[in-house]
Amino acid sequence: MSKRIYYQELGVANTREMFLKAVNGGYAIPAYNFNNLEQLQAIVTACVETDSPVIVQVSKGARNYANEIMLRYMAMGAVKMARAMGSKIPIALHLDHGDSFELCQACIESGFSSVMIDGSHLAYDDNVALTRKVVEYAHEHDVTVEGELGVLAGIEDEVQSDHSTYTKPEEVEDFVSRTGVDSLAISIGTSHGAFKFKVGPGEEPPPLRFDILHEIEQRIPGFPIVLHGSSSVVPEYIELINQYGGRLDGAVGVSEEQLRQAAASSVCKINIDSDGRLAMTAKVREYLAQNPAEFDPRKYLRAARSELVRLIKHKNETVLGSAGQA
Ligand code: G3H
Ligand code: 13P
Ligand code: ZN
Repeated sequence: MSKRIYYQELGVANTREMFLKAVNGGYAIPAYNFNNLEQLQAIVTACVETDSPVIVQVSKGARNYANEIMLRYMAMGAVKMARAMGSKIPIALHLDHGDSFELCQACIESGFSSVMIDGSHLAYDDNVALTRKVVEYAHEHDVTVEGELGVLAGIEDEVQSDHSTYTKPEEVEDFVSRTGVDSLAISIGTSHGAFKFKVGPGEEPPPLRFDILHEIEQRIPGFPIVLHGSSSVVPEYIELINQYGGRLDGAVGVSEEQLRQAAASSVCKINIDSDGRLAMTAKVREYLAQNPAEFDPRKYLRAARSELVRLIKHKNETVLGSAGQA
């Protein structure tokens, strides 16, 4: 086992103050997933250039892919890179979709400043008990905790579901008070991945269930709400991917207008992963198709990274409203 290191040593921030400011300010903190150097460089560059607070998040799959010790020092490097650019933006290091107490504990002891315990697939009382256990341990180390009520469709590492169930507003007060969580992820119609809705030609995807969100807001006023599955699945990237040999037919995401509406409410953390994956894949495919003799990864990854910077700046500035809020 590697030496225990807590988040304060890495220079990352927990989410408490970020969320307070976001709820009061009517914007949402972006939570971008990362698995490799180029993704993290792009997130830091874009958030520094837009002066946006940011949560960089790591799934169990990312941890397996990149190595937990490597990830810890990458997050530390992200903070140092931002400071060297003359920026004071707060950067939180968050575990996305933690599926056990042991995983959350390992992340807390590895420098994470925030963890999600996703007990949304469990029976209600089991979800409460597991979440409470994680909160007790996390708060001993000043680490903030995100819980989840209601199930999103799609694959979330070990936490998988074929169907979604909306969050029941009548459960939220009890869940928040019994668990002591710092934020709550809810299910109002989003799902993970690039195929969020089945829509016919010319049809619009169904709107998110803002009625459920409003009822939740009335029951726990000012409490930080989290929206997963919030990629917009930008059509230009789908077209580029398909043009250069990919096959992503029928990919659809959440409209930017719906996300703007959510960000202005008590939704104060918006999770985006698939959009970044699509942007990078589109640019790598385009670059390699247009430069068939090129084999230096720096060349095609530079193209992918530049596009990710552009995408994240756009999200912060025109969708989440987090630009200028650091
Ligand atoms: O919600 C899931 C995230 O997009 C992470 O995906 O488990 O493939 O790393 P992953
Ligand atoms: P997307 O698949 O819509 O990007 O959602 C990401 C997410 O919720 C990560 O937890
Ligand atoms: Zn998620």
